[in-house]
Amino acid sequence: MATLRVNPAGIELDLLEGETLLDGAERMGYSWPTICGGVGMCTLCWVEVEEGAENLSEMSPLEANALSIGRGRDGEIEPGVRLGCQVTAHGRVVVHKRGVNEASRAGVYR
Ligand code: FES
Repeated sequence: MATLRVNPAGIELDLLEGETLLDGAERMGYSWPTICGGVGMCTLCWVEVEEGAENLSEMSPLEANALSIGRGRDGEIEPGVRLGCQVTAHGRVVVHKRGVNEASRAGVYR
């Protein structure tokens, strides 16, 4: 069982095995900032990991490439930053991500 807390909103979610942070939030009725729809291109879904980095999946080449181009400085990936549409969890994880809202309150990004 993986659990996700999204700060600063304090949203608590249970994630299914193999489910990305973005997919889990959407399944539970929350919107998550995205332009590309979760295919690893826009980097708008990025999160800052506050706790539980050891419980996250390894960074794929696609995620690393997107982060280094889309959010990187001189090609370096910011420490603790992951893409919510690419990363999965296998334990407790706490992230900081603004813009995660109940879907009925969304409308800016999706
Ligand atoms: S939603 Fe676009 S890169 Fe994750």
